[in-house]
Amino acid sequence: MLNHKETLNVKYEPSYFISNYQKYFLEENTVKVIFSGGKIEITYFEKDIIKIFIGEKDETSIDTNAIHNCLKIIPPTIKEDEKNIIIYGDAVDTLIEKNSLKISFLSKDGKIINQDYNPVGKKDKKIFVSKANDCTAYYGFGEKSGSLNKKGQYMENFNTDDPAHDDNTPLLYKTIPFYIGVKPATMKNNYYYGIYFDNSYRSYFDMGKENRERIFFGAEGGQIQYYFIPGNTIKDVVSKYSILTGVMDMPPLWTLGYQQCRYSYSSRGELENIADTFRKKNIPCDCLYCDIHYMDSFKVMTFDGIKFPAPEDMLKNLHEKGFKVVTILDPGVKIEEEYSTYLNGLKEDCYVKKSDGELYVGEVWAGKSVFPDFSNYKAREWWKKELKDFISLGIDGIWNDMNEPAVFDNEYKTMPEECLHNSNKGTIEHKEFHNLYGMEMSRCSKEAQEELKENIRSFSMTRATFAGGQRYSSIWTGDNQSTWEHLRMSIPMNCNLGISGFSFVGNDVGGFGGNCNEELFIRWMQLGTFLPIFRNHSAIYTRRQEPWSFSKRAEKVAEKAINLRYRFIPYIYNMYYKSYKEGIPVFRPMVMEYPDDINVLDIYSQFMFGDNMLIAPVLYENERQKNVYLPEGIWYNYFTNEKFEGNNFYNIPVALDEILVFIKEGSIIPIFDEHINYIGEKDVPVTLEIFKGKGKILYYEDDGISLNYKRGEYNLYEIKSINAETQNTNINLIYKGLKNKKEFILKYK
Ligand code: GLC
Repeated sequence: MLNHKETLNVKYEPSYFISNYQKYFLEENTVKVIFSGGKIEITYFEKDIIKIFIGEKDETSIDTNAIHNCLKIIPPTIKEDEKNIIIYGDAVDTLIEKNSLKISFLSKDGKIINQDYNPVGKKDKKIFVSKANDCTAYYGFGEKSGSLNKKGQYMENFNTDDPAHDDNTPLLYKTIPFYIGVKPATMKNNYYYGIYFDNSYRSYFDMGKENRERIFFGAEGGQIQYYFIPGNTIKDVVSKYSILTGVMDMPPLWTLGYQQCRYSYSSRGELENIADTFRKKNIPCDCLYCDIHYMDSFKVMTFDGIKFPAPEDMLKNLHEKGFKVVTILDPGVKIEEEYSTYLNGLKEDCYVKKSDGELYVGEVWAGKSVFPDFSNYKAREWWKKELKDFISLGIDGIWNDMNEPAVFDNEYKTMPEECLHNSNKGTIEHKEFHNLYGMEMSRCSKEAQEELKENIRSFSMTRATFAGGQRYSSIWTGDNQSTWEHLRMSIPMNCNLGISGFSFVGNDVGGFGGNCNEELFIRWMQLGTFLPIFRNHSAIYTRRQEPWSFSKRAEKVAEKAINLRYRFIPYIYNMYYKSYKEGIPVFRPMVMEYPDDINVLDIYSQFMFGDNMLIAPVLYENERQKNVYLPEGIWYNYFTNEKFEGNNFYNIPVALDEILVFIKEGSIIPIFDEHINYIGEKDVPVTLEIFKGKGKILYYEDDGISLNYKRGEYNLYEIKSINAETQNTNINLIYKGLKNKKEFILKYK
């Protein structure tokens, strides 16, 4: 087994395990093409999604837990000629060459959208799928450092705790084996498609690094099964991918507010003092986090009785001041004879075992610990029961950490891969479940909260997860560093996470490891306004990072950034509605909005925040002028109203207390135009800022806290700006599920 940071660095190895075509037939919805040594199965799903499974003759495809809800469709037309089997779909046809076994996906006019480079291969347990490298760009791949466009790069997926990562680190905290290819079709048009490789083993993606003509992906074990997802645009592919793997729920509105964290606020007094300081200074804040020092000897689901006495009372007090409290939860359960959680799990046989049947013991914060087997339904139910007892003290959300899982006392820094999980599919080795461990833990956190607090939205955040984990939890990108490199790295990383189905994402603002400095802190807080989750976090023994920790000047900028965040909350919430409905992320690469503009293929220094806002943060020390590219159309500087013609590069002055925000002509931005200290402090009307030009938005409204929206209790308005100059705006309530209709304040810009 490898050390947690080592990669397999896989080279392509040709080896064909199926050959000699025999016959094909249709069984239920699946076309089965039989060869002497194996078979290819093709299944069409709704929205032109196509599943490809290649296996031994008697092998059955088993989905990972990523696959959510996608309907198979009535068998498509199939034709066989001398050379090929062709399956005709609505938008895409699949062609299988009987001799070479290669698979191609064709447009309805017979053009190749995607084709195999070599036939599928299997070497020992390693599997390989290779494709022609004919795209201008590849996006997605989940949480990866480095550039936005991954063409030419090699990446691996094995959930790994690596705080010291840089732009070339191939392994990070999460595994999302999904990418989007952009292939030029004509001078003006592209083909867009996604490939989701449904395999939870350590996987690898070589996007033309080893051989420029070929990309390949595969895994150390498991089945060869992937989904081909064609689309008209990048957004279309992302949306379809989220039908396959699911979407996030509407977040509780308070989670959009400012969140303050520190490793650790180590006593009740300190936490309450932080809360009071926010209120005294009138700096808005909605949420405080308790990191590991709230626990009694790092025993999960306990409070330290001396440092955090009367936790229920503390939580009640903080709630009265308008704060929510989120507590960290690690998977490792301390081995201690009098500790009830440990004993209960033992009694119910809920921990991961080694191959000799003994309990696996690993060292984490709490010392020697055992680990819940989240692959097992019974173990998840037990864990949820423990968690519900704990949450019922008044806890508002769960921060799932260390769930790669990270352990300290072996050379791999994780659970050895031969450990055994008693999964509901049967006994499996850790190497199959490793990448799923964090996702299943975060699922427990969501379910426990929802089962306990009926009809209240839950909040969970997780460090490790897998494709589809967006259904259960928000994420943060793990331990970063207080450096300019890490500030810059967060932008392409968030963009690619958004493309990979994760919209509800944050990075530790100010940087986790190392000491931040005033200027970096200012720039990071400015960017924080536009992160889907705005959470400031820093490590033990580093310089503190609360808004007032640097200087009066930094405090003022931080306050301004936080106030701007609260101003945009109605806009952000509306963007989350898109994530919930269609899987479209809040934080987007520019290429998602302007896919035909070659200037934005690999842009990392600016991004789109929702449909209408282009953010150009300062990312370099001492930078007071920023190069900005504005795509087609007219743009307005949000703060000065200065007008810019798009399709142009600009060099724009930007003072230390400024961030550049551009709004597209015709935009309608819903905002709160009043200061609030936290969500729900008072009722604030929604103001619509209407920019010059014509435009239209859908405005979504619900109670922000309950699950009633799932039962139709929300309003949807279509707001059209017909002519901003003559102040002509139409507001139509197109769906009414709430008792009252909203009165908007209109503000023409
Ligand atoms: C891990 C987490 C970090 C947390 C620390 C202590 O490093 O990634 O966010 O503060 O553990 O719990």
